[in-house]
Amino acid sequence: MISIVVPTYREAGNVSKLAGAVDVVMKGKQLEYEMLIVDDNSPDDIVEIVQGLADRLPIRLIQPTGRERDLSLAVIDGVRAARFDTLVVMDADLSHPPEMIPDLLKPLEEDRSRFVVGSRYTAGGSFDREWSLWRFLNSYVATIIARPLTTCTDPMSGFVAFNRGFVDLDELNPIGYKIGLELLVRGRFTSVVEVAIQFKDRTIGASKMNLVQQWKYLRHLRRLYLHRFKGWAEFVHYGAVGASGFVVDIAFYYLLQLFGVEHRIARALSFWPAVSWNWALNRVATFSERERRPKARQWLEFVMTSLFGFSVNWGIYFILTTKVAFFDTYRLIALVAGIGAASLFNFAASTLFVYSEKRAH
Ligand code: GDD
Ligand code: MN
Repeated sequence: MISIVVPTYREAGNVSKLAGAVDVVMKGKQLEYEMLIVDDNSPDDIVEIVQGLADRLPIRLIQPTGRERDLSLAVIDGVRAARFDTLVVMDADLSHPPEMIPDLLKPLEEDRSRFVVGSRYTAGGSFDREWSLWRFLNSYVATIIARPLTTCTDPMSGFVAFNRGFVDLDELNPIGYKIGLELLVRGRFTSVVEVAIQFKDRTIGASKMNLVQQWKYLRHLRRLYLHRFKGWAEFVHYGAVGASGFVVDIAFYYLLQLFGVEHRIARALSFWPAVSWNWALNRVATFSERERRPKARQWLEFVMTSLFGFSVNWGIYFILTTKVAFFDTYRLIALVAGIGAASLFNFAASTLFVYSEKRAH
């Protein structure tokens, strides 16, 4: 007993053919199934078409509401609505060969805890030669940057089979096209099995893949990296933001001196634009997946927690350049020493206090 989830947007021209082909394959193997068409309010006559098909085929139309249009979220809605625990997810445009469904299911019969991927890149798999170089490069780069998350050679695939018992649907948080990758990373499957498929380009309708989807993919990847590498990802990110703050800091430090400000005072003043820059970047980038808190108060808190670090930072600078002749000659070294000591302190304070999720409520 299998539930086949098919996300659709503007696929009225494809569903009949797909449903027919799937039915032939499933009947041929005597596999009981249902097919769920999860449509995001397409401006076509999908409703009438599915109603017509439902008279003779086990097909249902799911029409989710109350969220943005999104392939991954549509698949999750379909998985929730499914009657059976064994699931197949596939595209509506016949890019994924229906006759491969039984091959995707076979590894699950042996071991229910597997995750099965219809793969274009494993031995024997292929994709349409008509693919433009642009599309190929895109797909290639997208796959490479997901490498640290999974060993699967085609984690971008939207043709997968798995058992619902091995994912907690409430823990999923995808956006965009890569629902397979999401399940791979967040599911509790014991292994990945790749089944070679021949991916065919669609003949009817158009792909909905575009730049917006690619941007969504990068956002999705961030979430997955944060999930997989937790604090480490935030720390690295925080470090990068800190480095850019350092540039702001140095720029103002020299600029102020150009205008005749005494170097220790310039050092004290350049802290303010730098700390504001860091706060803003961390708000939109490092901790962007955390819940937002009011700006003014958060900035003030960031400045306050940074002030402790700043006292260390500026104190070290002041003492070194005032008391040690070497550091007065090489002030930049004193400046870096101060920043280094303060950064560690700041990260601890920010992660525990300023961007705290608990405190968002
Ligand atoms: N419900 C819903 N909502 N369905 C959607 C949406 C949406 O916002 N966007 C796309 N779909 C459906 C399409 O109707 C189709 O059935 C399926 O999702 C795939 O969309 P396509 O627009 O045909 O995607 P593609 O061919 O460019 O991409 C396919 O290949 C990629 C690998 O190259 C998909 O399988 C991707 O998941 C895969 O990464
Ligand atoms: Mn397609």
